[in-house]
Amino acid sequence: MAEKWTPKSWRSKPILQVPEYPDMDKLQITEKILSNYPPLVFAGEARALKRQLAKAALGEAFLLQGGDCAESFQEFHPDNIRDTFKVLLQMAVVLTFGASCPVVKVGRLAGQFAKPRSGDTETIDGVELPNYRGDIINGTEFSSDTRAPDPERMLQAYNQSASTLNLLRAFAQGGFADLHRVHQWNMGFVSDDAIGDRYKDIAERLDESLNFMAACGLTSETAPQLKETDFYTSHEALLLSYEEAMTRIDSLTGDWYDTSAHMLWIGERTRQLDGAHLEFLRGVANPIGVKVGPTTDPEYLIKLIDFLNADNEPGRLTLISRMGADKIEQVLPALVRKVKEEGRHVVWSCDPMHGNTVKASSGYKTRHFNEIMREVAGFFNVHHAEGTHPGGVHFELTGQDVTECVGGAQAITEDDLSSRYHTHCDPRLNAKQALELAFVFADRLKADRDKTKRSVMKKVLNNR
Ligand code: PEP
Ligand code: CO
Repeated sequence: MAEKWTPKSWRSKPILQVPEYPDMDKLQITEKILSNYPPLVFAGEARALKRQLAKAALGEAFLLQGGDCAESFQEFHPDNIRDTFKVLLQMAVVLTFGASCPVVKVGRLAGQFAKPRSGDTETIDGVELPNYRGDIINGTEFSSDTRAPDPERMLQAYNQSASTLNLLRAFAQGGFADLHRVHQWNMGFVSDDAIGDRYKDIAERLDESLNFMAACGLTSETAPQLKETDFYTSHEALLLSYEEAMTRIDSLTGDWYDTSAHMLWIGERTRQLDGAHLEFLRGVANPIGVKVGPTTDPEYLIKLIDFLNADNEPGRLTLISRMGADKIEQVLPALVRKVKEEGRHVVWSCDPMHGNTVKASSGYKTRHFNEIMREVAGFFNVHHAEGTHPGGVHFELTGQDVTECVGGAQAITEDDLSSRYHTHCDPRLNAKQALELAFVFADRLKADRDKTKRSVMKKVLNNR
């Protein structure tokens, strides 16, 4: 089939969303420096994630992926990392406990810096400058200096990713994520209402189970799974100069891995079959995601799956649908059916954010909580009807008390948006909205499973 892959073979393919660096020598020097830096993740960790995602592909686990739309140099702070980690832990507990389903936790963190844009330039008062493409490429300030793509930003992004990952590993393995501390993950602004109460109720039930287990001799000391968790990182593999420089051969298997994150995904705008982004990602052995929007054709989808996962390996490929609440139930069934008919193993995940972005009358980009819920509900409806597994969700969220998405139990209105609108790119769910959603789909996962179990029981009884 395809020609020989090398970490550079993407360079001879058509590429979209690529920055125009004014100083190509500096770009080459920076790529060389980066290629000598230590890997951020290890191949064995990427393989462990792939094994867990294989369970999600086969219907035995659920993927929870979330974090910032874009990380930024300015918002880099340990409290922000801690709070995003905390809200993902809280959501995972709700899902694991509510739906009795193992949850695979993957952050949009420690590398999520490059952003696709709808245009190459922005014009203000007759002045035209390159668009902002994420802190790894240029800065937001509207000046020719800041908007010029600067390769050195890749080094700063690498360093920020390395220290973010260092803190995440400490949180995941060092006791912070111990299930005995589930009460302490709750944040002040989430704890004082109905959602906070529901969370406390789960935490108390969990305590009872842990006490019972302790009485049986299972404590954090004797069962380390209770005090540690697996947490993985991911980002959109958009800036291929950076991704290539981070790509290394694994000495154990001889396979290539992109060591900038455990999982990489391809965005809706860069998933052309003959394009550079697919070419690059087909050759690395990490788990890969692909965004799948409403114009996706079922035949094309099979070609894309086969291009990226020729061996049909479960866990290798996650399809992240992002259709919009109005379209999902019309568009997704044909895709799900085709993939099922053709026997391809994928994790089906739902990104209910990117198809539901609107402009508020005040000019802020926002998303309505109810539309996000409606897209997730549509996703569950489709999979329930098709007899396939709704394998995961993909959110833009933060642990901070921001006002970027309207609605939810806090009833954030369009007028509230200006009060705490901090995102560098798209509007994120705040911790309370994120937790509220986790309860909604834990209930739904459980209800669908109970329904399936009941219909299986009925069939068994009818056949007796
Ligand atoms: C994103 O995930 O931030 C993004 C740009 O998504 P999409 O490619 O689906 O538009
Ligand atoms: Co986004």
